[in-house]
Amino acid sequence: MLKGKKIAIIGGGKMGSIIAQGLLFQKIVPHKNIVITDIDAARLDFLGSSLKLRISNNNEKTVRNADIIILAVKPQNMAATLQEIKPAINKSKLVISIAAGITTNFIEKYLVKGVRVVRVMPNTPALVGEGTAAVAAGRFAKAGDVKLTRTIFNAVGVSHEVEEKLMDAVTALSGSGPAYFFLIIEALIEAGFKTGLSRELAKKLAVQTMLGAARLCLESDKEPAHLREMVTSPGGTTAAGLKVMEEKEIREIISAAIKAATRRSKELAKGK
Ligand SMILES: NC(=O)c1ccc[n+]([C@@H]2O[C@H](COP(=O)([O-])OP(=O)(O)OC[C@H]3O[C@@H](n4cnc5c(N)ncnc54)[C@H](OP(=O)(O)O)[C@@H]3O)[C@@H](O)[C@H]2O)c1
Repeated sequence: MLKGKKIAIIGGGKMGSIIAQGLLFQKIVPHKNIVITDIDAARLDFLGSSLKLRISNNNEKTVRNADIIILAVKPQNMAATLQEIKPAINKSKLVISIAAGITTNFIEKYLVKGVRVVRVMPNTPALVGEGTAAVAAGRFAKAGDVKLTRTIFNAVGVSHEVEEKLMDAVTALSGSGPAYFFLIIEALIEAGFKTGLSRELAKKLAVQTMLGAARLCLESDKEPAHLREMVTSPGGTTAAGLKVMEEKEIREIISAAIKAATRRSKELAKGK
């Protein structure tokens, strides 16, 4: 499906470079068919010399030569970037944006009428092939465009098609999600240290436990609540730990965090 297609990644920051590397590592796209751009010369140098990516500092030219354009700049740089690439966009090209809070409608308004836009919310575990991406079609995008976009993001994880109105909620949950789990790992390391473990061992135990719990959840046909009950014998250690978590309202904390992140995504959409 991606055979022979040329991809331009505009914005070679964290996400842009993760996607480029994922596509190359998985051999989804040959090296000669991906070019990544950035406005920062030092960053470009790093992308070219350390990551061995094909680089350019010319957005317009790179877009002109590409079939698929992945917009990976910060939301606040999106308007300027769209102005810059506008002359090089025609309806034969597919535009994919990963910018938080930027709607397909916003992008369509800047570019040629009828342009096919797909919006994606990926996350950083894409770097290790374990990303989660939600994909939403813009007004003029066809089923094939969504399929092709999903092929790109399936190269670095798992993708799901959603309605665009759900993107703020997705951003709050899986876009920002890795940071929540890193925070939990940090807290487990500190807690383990306070109870006598070395930080190194606590980290190993915490990380592998998180990975194991996630895989169990993925591979089991049982609900998470059921899996939790399976480790919680009455009067046991897990029950004692969970009691404190419930008393301190961990569910309420998580719910409030997701609400705040969803709100922030909506604000970004309004340029705040
Ligand atoms: N990081 C995540 O976990 C994550 C998850 C999901 C979605 N996203 C989305 O992915 C996008 C990129 O995020 P990021 O974390 O990768 O940000 P980032 O590391 O700041 O990367 C953006 C890069 O684009 C460069 N840039 C700015 N304007 C440009 C232009 N006109 N042409 C070419 N390059 C330009 C920036 O350079 P300067 O730094 O010099 O401005 C920077 O190197 C954002 O829209 C974000 O919402 C990120």
